[in-house]
Amino acid sequence: MCGIVGYVGPRDATPIIYDGLKRLEYRGYDSAGIAVIEDGEIKIRRDAGKLNRLGELLFNDPINGHIGIGHTRWATHGEPSARNAHPHVGESGRVVIVHNGIVENFLALRDELTAEGASFSSDTDTEIIVLLVERYMAMGHDLTEAARRAISNLDGAHGIVLLSIDEPDKIVAARVGNAGGVVLGIGEDEKFIASDIPAILEHTRKMAFLEAEQMAVVTASGFNAMTLEGDEVSLEIMNVPWDPVSAEKGEYKHFMLKEIFEQVRSTTDTIAGRVDFKEGQINLHQLNLTPELVQRIDKIIITACGTAAHAGMVGRHLIERIARIPVQVEIASEFRYQDPLVDENTVVLAISQSGETADTLAAMKEGRDRGATVWSIVNAIGSQAMRIADGYIGMQTGPEIGVASTKAFTAPLIDLYMLAILLGDMRGTLDKKRRMELVRDLRRIPDLVGQCLDRADDVEKVAWELKESEHCLYLGRGINMPIAYEGALKIKEISYIHAEAYPAGEMKHGPIALIDEDMPVIAIAPKDPWYEKMLSQIEQTKARGGNVIAVATDGDELMQEIADHMLWVPETPWLLSPVTTIIPLQLLAYHTGVLRGADVDQPRNLAKSVTVE
Ligand code: AGP
Repeated sequence: MCGIVGYVGPRDATPIIYDGLKRLEYRGYDSAGIAVIEDGEIKIRRDAGKLNRLGELLFNDPINGHIGIGHTRWATHGEPSARNAHPHVGESGRVVIVHNGIVENFLALRDELTAEGASFSSDTDTEIIVLLVERYMAMGHDLTEAARRAISNLDGAHGIVLLSIDEPDKIVAARVGNAGGVVLGIGEDEKFIASDIPAILEHTRKMAFLEAEQMAVVTASGFNAMTLEGDEVSLEIMNVPWDPVSAEKGEYKHFMLKEIFEQVRSTTDTIAGRVDFKEGQINLHQLNLTPELVQRIDKIIITACGTAAHAGMVGRHLIERIARIPVQVEIASEFRYQDPLVDENTVVLAISQSGETADTLAAMKEGRDRGATVWSIVNAIGSQAMRIADGYIGMQTGPEIGVASTKAFTAPLIDLYMLAILLGDMRGTLDKKRRMELVRDLRRIPDLVGQCLDRADDVEKVAWELKESEHCLYLGRGINMPIAYEGALKIKEISYIHAEAYPAGEMKHGPIALIDEDMPVIAIAPKDPWYEKMLSQIEQTKARGGNVIAVATDGDELMQEIADHMLWVPETPWLLSPVTTIIPLQLLAYHTGVLRGADVDQPRNLAKSVTVE
């Protein structure tokens, strides 16, 4: 997610905005910029890179004014660069914007503006918004009304902040949908705007929060709030007790918990702008697919490490069943040394949150050197795994700070599902009726994830069952077998409990010897095609005195009778069931780690990105 800071008042805006952006650095970003109104003109300094780069620009060529806005950008449309960094000024040079969110109807609006003769100076969706505002101001509307009308054209969730030299004493801010917040800071004779509390906490604890579909007009002396329909609203002014450091996590104790709970937003964002739900069409234009390439693919090798590899294991089921293309999953550290069978009809698909994992990058190079087409599914825009690929899919989850990957696991599951539909559609192996069903199912995911998160307290209770354990076993089958591996990895890296994962059918070939009352078994058994098999596996485990924690579908009374503890998930279309079955296991690992006093965000011996071999 991007960071936003605005200021209007008697002081110099530049240092206030710059310091505010520094306090939002934890959100992760790849470019930054500030705009102020100075001597009646909009002055901007911006560039790719970190804030110290922006600091250099400001030092070498200062800009000062009593009103300004600043931004740290996590790129979604358009790679990190000076031309794509915010703030963006419109063609007239009279209006400037910073923006958090994704304009889902970006392409249609860009075509519309192009037809009206607009020209673009960036690859961003944000520039569309400021050009729309200028269009309405040219019709005679003031900044507030022009912004309101421009926003009514936008699909998606947004945080928007605008300035204009035509009204140099006011800032217009708006919040659309569940985009990152828009916070108003109330000083004596100065006002602040931010996407998150930490940016302005040192100046004031008096804050008001825009709700979705609200906007505000802010001057040094006060603010007026209204709905996007223009109806006046009154905002409650709150006193925020947080200290700046804890505010970075918002109301969450750890980044990991915050990111687990961001999965309604991140699953929404990874879908945003890529699905025409009416026509059932998927658009992954950054993959640069051609019908010729898609037709000649005879094998896809998914390669990754850790959690990303587990996502790839789910992806094999999705692509083979939906697109009917053979898929193999190779751990990147193995693939790079196994003299793999790869040729020009092979696609090597790397999955990586950081895009900088040394083994994964080496596996991509191995594929390319042998003639494969190389794709990647990556979260960090501008990272190597994105730049060296022939095409990529951005996870679009916003930065993931916690070392244990959570939202960057569920996002690629959805990206792989969309990829499978697109490939099946382009190869003619997926008929329209089935495609429409699959796309309809996709639309339910954010809500189903939200339902899983609503049960977090129940999961915390079950964590007490694992707190003292030194070993545990995760079992799954079919498309949920990778969830056993991911659940086991989570609890290992967060609580340091030794956890093994097995395909449940393997138990009778040896591991069942481990079962006794001291070996908790976590069984992933939702109503999917392997349910009956999992049920009998759980009965065998219970018959040997095992203690079973079952991940099961709401209403499964039979499972409730057999298992010792339940982790319920809502009924989910089985091809998407891994997206929901992993949520209670993420929470289970988190709460078990907290109960055991582990450093949840920075587990011992681990790094967020393993950039060395
Ligand atoms: C996941 O919780 C771990 N932190 C680790 O396994 C991680 O998934 C792996 O190192 C791959 O990282 P990447 O996705 O950035 O390539």
